[in-house]
Amino acid sequence: MNESAPNEPGPNEPAPRHPGLSRRAAIGAGAGVLAAGVLGVPALAGWRGQSSTGTQLRSEIPLPPPFQRPMVLPPVLTPSSRADGADLYQLRQYPVPVEVVPGYRTTAWTYGGTFPGPTIRSRAGRRTIVEHTNELPVPTVVHLHGGVTPPEDDGYPTDLILPDETWQGYGHGGDTTVRTRSYEYPLQQRGATLWYHDHRMDFTGPAVWRGLAGFHLVTDPEEERLDLPHGERELPLALMDRAFDTQGQFLYPSLDPGLIDPPGVRHPYESGMLGDVILVNGRAWPYHQVDTALYRLRFLNASNARRYRLRFEVDGEEVDLPIIQIGSDHGLLAGPVRHEALTLAPAERFDVLVDFRSLRPGAQVRVVNDLGAGSTADVMRFDVTRQVSDERAVPDMLSTRLERLRVADAVRTRAMTFRSQPIDGMHGWVVNGRPFDPDVTHATVELGSTEIWELTGDFHHPVHLHLSPFQVLGRSTGGPGPFDAGWKDTIDLRPAETARIIVRFDGYRGRYVFHCHNLEHEDMMMMANFDVV
Ligand code: C2O
Ligand code: CU
Ligand code: CU
Repeated sequence: MNESAPNEPGPNEPAPRHPGLSRRAAIGAGAGVLAAGVLGVPALAGWRGQSSTGTQLRSEIPLPPPFQRPMVLPPVLTPSSRADGADLYQLRQYPVPVEVVPGYRTTAWTYGGTFPGPTIRSRAGRRTIVEHTNELPVPTVVHLHGGVTPPEDDGYPTDLILPDETWQGYGHGGDTTVRTRSYEYPLQQRGATLWYHDHRMDFTGPAVWRGLAGFHLVTDPEEERLDLPHGERELPLALMDRAFDTQGQFLYPSLDPGLIDPPGVRHPYESGMLGDVILVNGRAWPYHQVDTALYRLRFLNASNARRYRLRFEVDGEEVDLPIIQIGSDHGLLAGPVRHEALTLAPAERFDVLVDFRSLRPGAQVRVVNDLGAGSTADVMRFDVTRQVSDERAVPDMLSTRLERLRVADAVRTRAMTFRSQPIDGMHGWVVNGRPFDPDVTHATVELGSTEIWELTGDFHHPVHLHLSPFQVLGRSTGGPGPFDAGWKDTIDLRPAETARIIVRFDGYRGRYVFHCHNLEHEDMMMMANFDVV
């Protein structure tokens, strides 16, 4: 796994059609040298029976025992001004050594010096402007995942922030700026657990792997009235898996470790990159001390390709702590939903309440991952340390204004497929049989109109739509699944499954993307445009 990757373009490289595609050609060529002999069935041999589509890369350092270090919360970012009806934030993107695994200094690519990036907190309807400065060696793009954002600020994959002028002429034809760019978020939407992350075309996987992700929490009056656990009892928890090289640096099988050219990963990681170390908020298997109280945990699966099934196992007890879901990707549910375990696909968010009041100080609660094995079966541990009295009840009603989209209002139904397919004879992932092309639109939808989309996939494909949240009508396996409730922006599409979702394209006119949020699939072109007109 340490061999250096050949990245000479092959002899059959097709003539470039435009700047974006000339670089595309290199994916196939580079990967092809390694993937020879496995065309069309890349990296999937070991897939059967697996719970994530991907291949696990083993760390080259001895893995530390779990639960050695306390969990930390990303700092909450302070606005540099609150003028003009808007909160203004500034974030520099730069590399920083961080202690992810005890005893090692891993250079992360950070937003503002922390991994994950600082948490931004906004109120719904209050404009938030984030000025990003790129001090990394490569272009970046910032996308607010779950944000209802005008197209020019949505972080279109070719709207690059170049590190400096010398990158001119290399912008894939997008709306490119040098060094600094302000993203303006109107946030005319419900309170929700959003997150921001890199979205540069072809290189989102390695950039997020190196650290470019953070929470953006939006609150609204309805949520505030519920008086949910807050302060120390509201914990945003970002789950990521990573692998480390002998020096404790992030290990990622990029064809070009400089992330310039060519894009793509070495065989057999084209189906998704899985690490053997589980991080919560940037630390390997942390512990967290809690009171005998009710907690609000806001889970985000920020992993490139890994799915999780979380359970709260109480040491020495037969029965797990129940997980009470109160919110999904786009905010509160109508009422709480009780789960024994919580399944999260990449990019999904689950807002849950967990009640530690039935436990005594000294109790330990391990958060385990039923979809993992060995080191990836552990996530973190909660240690009950303090007896307090907490009278807070789990509300029986949450959002009283949860709208149900109606099938009768849908003006059309579209079929969208997500499959593995050779591209230029090499391995790729495609939407409706086509690799991503910024100039090709897969759907032209009318602003304000409602549509039903039928999503069909071959393997696990967490399908994400920018701009417009949706609701899940059903799956080929039956009705909506247990984790499909509420407003979603990402659906855990499972192998050989069709899911029906209903979307109302509210918000803004313009070009947006939808894509698979397995970041290796996304980079290997499982992305497409829709145009709101
Ligand atoms: Cu999480 Cu297109 O993004
Ligand atoms: Cu998004
Ligand atoms: Cu996929």
